[in-house]
Amino acid sequence: MRGKGLLGIEPLTAEEIQKILDRARFYQPLQARTGRKLDTLRGRTIIHLFYESSTRTRTSFEIAAKRLGADTVTLSAKGSSVDKGESLLDTLNTLAAMRPDAIVMRHSASGAPHFLARYLETPILNAGDGTHEHPTQALLDALTILDHKPSLAGLRVAIIGDIAHSRVARSNLHLLTKFGASVVFCGPPPLVPRELECFSPNVTRTFRMEEAITDADVIMMLRVQFERQNPHRVPSASEYFRFYGLRLEHLRAARPDAIVMHPGPINRGREISSEVADFPRSAILNQVENGIAVRMAVLDLLLAGESAKPPERPPAS
Ligand code: NCD
Repeated sequence: MRGKGLLGIEPLTAEEIQKILDRARFYQPLQARTGRKLDTLRGRTIIHLFYESSTRTRTSFEIAAKRLGADTVTLSAKGSSVDKGESLLDTLNTLAAMRPDAIVMRHSASGAPHFLARYLETPILNAGDGTHEHPTQALLDALTILDHKPSLAGLRVAIIGDIAHSRVARSNLHLLTKFGASVVFCGPPPLVPRELECFSPNVTRTFRMEEAITDADVIMMLRVQFERQNPHRVPSASEYFRFYGLRLEHLRAARPDAIVMHPGPINRGREISSEVADFPRSAILNQVENGIAVRMAVLDLLLAGESAKPPERPPAS
């Protein structure tokens, strides 16, 4: 991974993913301590360029970089020269000319970071490209599942909601199947593409929540991505909730130790009830916390390298 950036989960081997997860485990205990700042990336500069809204991913990448001692600059499309008609490639070439060590970017066009990576030497980290991939989200999801389950192999993971427009669903599909988990996708028929079933014999789809949840070890709920579809064709919150909103009674069909996940932002009363979102087996905030450890691991492996001396474990405070 060193120097190459991180564009997606699809091109990574299970071994490479495991290496990132192992390094993230190392950074996990750091999150709850005071005096968390390390100097692994001291003197490095990371630019965060967000062409789409973000709360979790952007903050978490920034905190991860800062906890490793890097300097960070954050730009959103609003307020930058993108407003003045500059092309994506010209903006990226301009930023690359300032010699950052990496550019973290989110863009609404699927493939935007892959296109740029062909022209720029600066490593690019994909923080979400259109409906395509969101690699660090799938990595933090895997880390969160492994906090609760001994292994991904053999797990049944139900991914429910707007699958068609979800980069989170796609990156999770790649990661989970590389590690031998089975995935069942569920949602309203127009939002669950038929092609997904051709991906692997371990991938199925259903339009019935009860069927998806039966015996599930992990239930991952997804938001309806209004910004990527005709808003007039999206059902009302109450109509959607009636058929595809996760409620406490659904959980009876899942395994007794099943966990509930959601990449956020959550819409209570649309895809998830408040009781489930705040339920003791809801791992939603653990996902957020693990996001920092995973992004520290990715930045460390990318910029400091695998051969770099593992950072000193900071003393417990
Ligand atoms: C997701 C995204 O932006 O793809 N959120 C996230 O990064 N945590 C999912 C979403 O927006 O629904």
